[in-house]
Amino acid sequence: MLIHSASQLLTLAGGPQRGHALGTLGIIEHGAVVVREEKIVAVGTTDEMRAAYPHEPSLDASGCVLMPGFVDPHTHVIWAGDRANEFGMKMAGMHYLDILAAGGGIISTVHATRTASIETLISQTRPRLLRMFAHGTTTAEAKSGYGLQTATELRLLKALLALDDEGPLDLAITFLGAHAIAPEFKDDPQGYTDLVCDTMLPIVKEWWGTHAPRLSLPFVDVFCENKAFNLEQSRRVLTKARSLGFPLKIHADEFDNLGGVSLAVELGAASADHLVKTSEADIAALGKAETVAVSLPCTPFGLAECHYTPAREIIEADGILALATDCNPGTTWNESMQFVIALACRAMKLTPAQAIAATTINSAYAIRRADTIGSIEVGKQADLLILSVPDYRQLGYRYGTNLVKQVIKRGRVYSVDVGYYRTA
Ligand code: NIG
Ligand code: FE
Repeated sequence: MLIHSASQLLTLAGGPQRGHALGTLGIIEHGAVVVREEKIVAVGTTDEMRAAYPHEPSLDASGCVLMPGFVDPHTHVIWAGDRANEFGMKMAGMHYLDILAAGGGIISTVHATRTASIETLISQTRPRLLRMFAHGTTTAEAKSGYGLQTATELRLLKALLALDDEGPLDLAITFLGAHAIAPEFKDDPQGYTDLVCDTMLPIVKEWWGTHAPRLSLPFVDVFCENKAFNLEQSRRVLTKARSLGFPLKIHADEFDNLGGVSLAVELGAASADHLVKTSEADIAALGKAETVAVSLPCTPFGLAECHYTPAREIIEADGILALATDCNPGTTWNESMQFVIALACRAMKLTPAQAIAATTINSAYAIRRADTIGSIEVGKQADLLILSVPDYRQLGYRYGTNLVKQVIKRGRVYSVDVGYYRTA
């Protein structure tokens, strides 16, 4: 298939973008891509591609931007129920961590999730994934973490594997047994940390080997925060995970700086996420590391807080910046990377070009898939978006509406266009 005549083709070629290289879109005007089966086989101008592939069936992208699919590198997309009741409490002034300490917050979703069957979990999660897809996300990271007991955590992983299998989105799965202290261990956080390290992690490793033998091990993540896991407990979880061969991630500096970023860099984590209260020393460490700084601007927005990731400082320090939704039922139920871009531009003063690189090639690197997705380059998976607009700067500028016209996932074309209502 020849996708041709795009007013702008954004290649994002050349690998993850550090520091001031962020925002290198690699624009080809009047661009075209040749896709065979699931892969990209040629990229260039429409004239060049038509000459080289004269008999290819074609898809017209005139007047449209053609770009890589969004990669959302941080979501908690699998859960049961909702927390609409807590939103009003938060807006009336109650703090997120105090709701958690009072047995609400994550713990209330844990109760709903533990009592849900795998069929319910799948049927409640599927529409969220499909809406993400319709808004241009072609690969999403997805964390467990609302079970906090071995059996439910395994049920969540099993449901995520089934949803990954079903498609069309690809999932990069993360085990987040250390999302909160389980309610049974309310007064014994050390005991729950022991359970995660000594029981859950070895069981997850063995279970994965039999249930997903062809996939590499999932990421292991920990919520390093006051009222969740302190720095020492986080270190134990990640060190144990690393010794078992799991790749690592961390939730760090969302509300308080406990030193999670330095820990992530020291242990070679793929990413450190949230990064609101990040110190100058930690920013400098990110500037020398392969650990991607994943900013989640929808989280402070969702909580109506005014502090965001110091994204420009991270760029200045030569860090690798990525953006994600953090989609979850508590802090931010947002499924659209287009909204993340619009918010990142305004709240963190990124340009649309920087935000686009942070939601494609850099976010692919945050889940260590930058060799197969995140850019339009020969040999990569054909995960592409055709936007209904002719200029990439419309992303960020416009929000609250879906600019995706078609999603091409592994070479298959899905139409998203709402079209027009017709009367009979
Ligand atoms: O990333 N911070 C911890 N986890 C989620 C929130 C989960 C929830 O409130 O249910 C986050 O914001
Ligand atoms: Fe999160």
